[in-house]
Amino acid sequence: MEVIKQQIAELLGKTIGFDVSSIGETTFHRALETRMNALAIDEPVLYFERLSSSYMELRRLIEEVVVPETWFFRDQQPFSFLSKHILQSKKYLSGKPFRILSIPSSTGEEPYSIVMTLMDAGLHQNQFHVDGIDVSERVLARARKGVYRGNSFRTKDLTFRDRYFVKEGNVFEIKENVREKVLFLQGNILQPGFMESLGQYDVVFCRNVLIYFNPEAQEQVIGYLYNLLSSGGLLFTGYSEASLFFETPFVPVSRAKTFAFYKEDAKSVETKLYTSYKSNALARQIPRPPSKPALRTKPSTSKKPSALPAKAKNKEYTAVKRLADEGALEEAANRSETYLSLHDPSANWYCLLGVIRDCQGRKEDAMDFFRKALYLDPTHVESLIQLSLLVERNGDLERAKNYKRRAQRLLEENVNGG
Ligand SMILES: C[S@@+](CC[C@H](N)C(=O)[O-])C[C@H]1O[C@@H](n2cnc3c(N)ncnc32)[C@H](O)[C@@H]1O
Repeated sequence: MEVIKQQIAELLGKTIGFDVSSIGETTFHRALETRMNALAIDEPVLYFERLSSSYMELRRLIEEVVVPETWFFRDQQPFSFLSKHILQSKKYLSGKPFRILSIPSSTGEEPYSIVMTLMDAGLHQNQFHVDGIDVSERVLARARKGVYRGNSFRTKDLTFRDRYFVKEGNVFEIKENVREKVLFLQGNILQPGFMESLGQYDVVFCRNVLIYFNPEAQEQVIGYLYNLLSSGGLLFTGYSEASLFFETPFVPVSRAKTFAFYKEDAKSVETKLYTSYKSNALARQIPRPPSKPALRTKPSTSKKPSALPAKAKNKEYTAVKRLADEGALEEAANRSETYLSLHDPSANWYCLLGVIRDCQGRKEDAMDFFRKALYLDPTHVESLIQLSLLVERNGDLERAKNYKRRAQRLLEENVNGG
C-alpha cells in the first residue's frame, strides 16, 4: 500500500480500531475514492491533509469503511440464553430493571431482538432498558426509523415478524412498543473515557465488531467490556470472536452456540478492575511452598451420599471461589478437598481446585486436577483453557495450542449444531 494510504489506514486504526485487512485493500481504496471524488480531490496526499484537519471528514470516511451487516435474531441461541439468564437471576426476583447494551447496534436489529426476547419472556416494559450504540450516524438513523426489508429477516422462524412488525408494502415497520424501548446513541468504543461514561450494564452484546479491529484495539475493548459489566454480568460475543476472551478474566458459559461469558460474580471481585485482575494473574506465577499434598487418585464415579442439598452446594462453591479470590488459598483448597471427599466428583470443583493449586505454584497438582475435571467432563471449556495457559507458561506451546484448539472447537461446535 502506498505510504499515504498506509497513514490513512493507521489513522483509522488509532481512531476506531479499524484494521484494513479485515475488509481488504480494494474495499478500503474504494472508500477513499468515494470520499476523494465527493471532495473533488485527486491526490491522496491532499486528502490526508484534509482528513487530518477535519473531524467531520474523518467521520465521513468512517461511514464509508464500517461494515453494518446484521439481521434479527442473528445466531438465535444467544437470545434464548439471554431470556433464561434473566428469568433465573436474583435481580429478576428483586424487580429491579435490567440495563442491557448492544454495542455496536448497527441498524438496530440486535437491540430490537433483545427487546422482543424480553417481551416474549414476559418482562414488563419498565423491567428493562436497552441502549444501542454505534459509531456510524448513518446506521443509527436507520435504527431509529425501524423500517426493514427482507435482508434483515434471515432466520427460519419468522413468527416474531408477525407479532412485532406492521407490513407496509414490501417493508416491515417495527411496532412502537418495541421501538421506544431502545435508546440509540452515537459513540466510538475506543474513544477515551466513552465506555467509562456509560455506567454499568447487566448484559452486554458486543458481537461482530472485534473481528474488524487490530490486536491492540481488541485488547483495549476487552478491558473496557470487563469494567462495563456489573458483577455476575453476561457478555455475548460474536462466534469468531469468542477465542479472544480465552486468556481474560471472563468465564465462558458452557452452553451450545451462545458465545457468552460471565464476569465473575464473587462479591470480592465486584470492584476489581480488569487491570488489577491482570496483575493478580502475574502474582499467580510466584511459586509458594507446597502445603498438604493434593488428591492424586482417579476421580471415583461411585455415588456418595450428598452431604449438602443442591442450593447449599452452590453456596459452598461460591464461598470457596470468593476465598480463593481474596487470597485465602490454603483454606479454599482445604474446603474444596473436603467437599470433594464428601460428594460425587465434579468437574467444576476439580477445575476450581486446579486454579487454586496453580495460584499456589503447585503446577503438577493443578494439572492433575484440570485433567480430572476433563476426565469427568471432556467438554469442560474452562479446564481446557486453564490447562492451555498452564502448559503455555511451562513453555509447551504445542500442547497449549492443542488445548486451546479443543476449547475453541467446543465453542465453534455450537455454531454447527453441536
Ligand atoms: C457487523 S456490525 C455488527 C452489528 C451487530 N452487533 C451484529 O452482530 O449483528 C458492525 C458495526 O460496528 C460498528 N463499529 C465499527 N467500529 C466501531 C467503533 N469503534 N465504535 C462503535 N461502533 C463501531 C459499525 O458502524 C457497524 O455498524
